[in-house]
Amino acid sequence: MKRKRRIKKKFIIFSIIGLIIILGIIILVMFLFNKKDFKVTLSDDLDIEINSLVKVSSLIDEIDNGKLVDDIDIDTSKLGEKDISIKIDVDGKKEDYKFKVNIVDTIAPELTFNEEVYTTVGDDIDLLSNVEVTDNSKEDIDVTLDGDYDINTVGEYNLFYIAKDSSGNETKKEFTLVVEDNVERTSKGFVIENRDGVTYIDGLLVVNKTYSLPSWYGDGLTSETQSAFNEMEADAKALGLNIYISSGYRSYSTQDTIYNNYVKVDGQKEADTYSARAGHSEHQTGLAFDLNSIDDSFTYTDEGKWVNANCYKYGFIIRYPKGKDDITGYMHESWHLRYVGEELASKLYNNGDWITLEEYFGITSEY
Ligand code: DAL
Ligand code: ZN
Repeated sequence: MKRKRRIKKKFIIFSIIGLIIILGIIILVMFLFNKKDFKVTLSDDLDIEINSLVKVSSLIDEIDNGKLVDDIDIDTSKLGEKDISIKIDVDGKKEDYKFKVNIVDTIAPELTFNEEVYTTVGDDIDLLSNVEVTDNSKEDIDVTLDGDYDINTVGEYNLFYIAKDSSGNETKKEFTLVVEDNVERTSKGFVIENRDGVTYIDGLLVVNKTYSLPSWYGDGLTSETQSAFNEMEADAKALGLNIYISSGYRSYSTQDTIYNNYVKVDGQKEADTYSARAGHSEHQTGLAFDLNSIDDSFTYTDEGKWVNANCYKYGFIIRYPKGKDDITGYMHESWHLRYVGEELASKLYNNGDWITLEEYFGITSEY
């Protein structure tokens, strides 16, 4: 009986152990089948431009069974191979993943320069002061000059600026050195010509406080000015607007009288803000005239508004725009129009934000 009971007890113990083992195996098998393997597929191109902004996610095409924990920025400040270490979230567990990228420089330096450089014969010039270089590598790059020129011989010389970064990317750009025979230029590079005391800038007759006319100059409105006005007047009339020239050509002596009368009334300092001294008035050029009331009230009339918005189509500019007193030397005159031709007038109109001749040419207007 005793033996029988012992056998029964052993059987129970073995059965329990066996059950535990079987359960253990089941749990292990379940665990092994359940454990996911993550897989990162990297982009084909792991070359990254130096100093560019690159997030690690942009280098990963796909992650199977996981997701990126932090989309870190890659440090792209140094050339060469770089180890990247990221964390992948796999069902809440953070797994490490490492790969390599290559920081490269394939972009050539950029050069900023004037395509035409002018100098006067015999005047040596520092051609490297005309050029600026920038590069994505942020390194200091020297610009070198290629080509021959003779500063003592008038002519145009085609030369090159060359810049090379430490990765061997090279930029070579052409520019022209113009060696001239004593030509005067404005600060913006336009040629200033003086023909018999009359100043032409880029071929356009210019009169202001700096540039004057000889007393003999002028004999009425030029035919171009008159016919452009006629066309403008006709178009205005068709719209029910009445524009007329109240003061057109004025001779040197007429201007002298007008200006001196103003000086008597307001004093010279004040008169100089609205009236030109003899020889300095555009009215003497035959290219300018005053419209209608010759005072500020014209600005707010339908005619004044239409002229401001449309005169450029006929080749006219508002010669003394609002807020440009210090540049033109005169207060705003909405009624004073100057003929410059349609091409230049369109540029100076500048969508209603008038550019003055002084600004466009880079000249002064000062006595
Ligand atoms: N009012 C303009 C400036 C002139 O006198 O010519
Ligand atoms: Zn005027």
